[in-house]
Amino acid sequence: MKKRVFSGIQPSGNLHIGNFLGALKNWVASQDQFDNVFCIVDLHAITVPQDPKILRQKIREVAGIYFAAGIDPKKSIVFVQSAVSAHAELAWILNCFTPMGWLGRMTQFKEKSGSQKENVSAGLFDYPALMAADILLYDTDEVPVGEDQKQHVEFTRDIAGRFNSIYGETFKLPKPVIPHSGARVMDLIEPAKKMSKSDDRTGHTLNLLSSKDEIRSAIMGATTDSLKQIVFDPKRAGIYNLLEIYEGVTGLSRTEIELKFAGIGYGEFKKELAEKVVEFLEAFQSQYQELVKDPQHIDSLLADGANQALVLAEKKLSEVKSKVGLG
Ligand code: TYM
Repeated sequence: MKKRVFSGIQPSGNLHIGNFLGALKNWVASQDQFDNVFCIVDLHAITVPQDPKILRQKIREVAGIYFAAGIDPKKSIVFVQSAVSAHAELAWILNCFTPMGWLGRMTQFKEKSGSQKENVSAGLFDYPALMAADILLYDTDEVPVGEDQKQHVEFTRDIAGRFNSIYGETFKLPKPVIPHSGARVMDLIEPAKKMSKSDDRTGHTLNLLSSKDEIRSAIMGATTDSLKQIVFDPKRAGIYNLLEIYEGVTGLSRTEIELKFAGIGYGEFKKELAEKVVEFLEAFQSQYQELVKDPQHIDSLLADGANQALVLAEKKLSEVKSKVGLG
């Protein structure tokens, strides 16, 4: 039996090269090796305010991006979270076993709520319980995510362990799988900050659906440093980030890359990087444009995915309900 992989992306903001290198690329690469479930996590998206019209568009956009990146609906279940109500139901049950203190320690909550802790939604605080439900419903072995989600997967393990210790073996303990490179792609202008989907300032991100000109000008404007050598040194955040992006889109090794750019200036390196990203995105975007010409087809793939997910999710939910004494 193949191991089960589960992962998801929120349909909010604009998907960027970090979402690709940190998550999607790795889902596609290991698709044949695993039994895959990939979700578009719209219930997570509404933990912060969303325009309903835009949210609906973004759900289809993310589905198009999954398929254009190479997720094959014959090899992977792809569905929208809100189409399978077991996610919300299990999240509620897990809520009741989640200490407030555990949620309060989540760094993503601290970052997202900032100085607004009293005003953000209870959903934002409780977000990790819903993420745990996503993962635990499918007896997931591995969760391939970027570095920022590692703590949430560890939280999922903890909550699963706690539930199992009260009711007996119910949930599998999932393992976060973080890529060696591209796990935390940084903002191009402020390389001390993570590249973020909700950032729509020009030049800060490389979006998967950006035009060639936008890509070129963002890369040429990226912050580097006053040193000259082009080497993978994590202490030099700007150039390190650009090198990781180069590594991610070309598949070359770090040694090969350092040799290739030995004695070459930043300007030339950036030009070469921009062309590699443009080349990669050209192929990806042409697949995407083809797919979105037929939105009904995307909808029908998602409906098929939801039907498959539903069977697995309902089975686990009813086991949990019966253990807890519900129904
Ligand atoms: P989300 O939608 O913020 O991001 C989707 C995926 O992209 C990764 N990622 C990055 N990787 C590298 N560099 C970056 N700058 C970067 N930004 C984002 C994220 O780590 C993630 O893998 N809570 C999740 C969605 C979720 C989920 C789940 C994931 C809900 N349920 C169950 C796995 C399993 C999130 O908000 O990801």
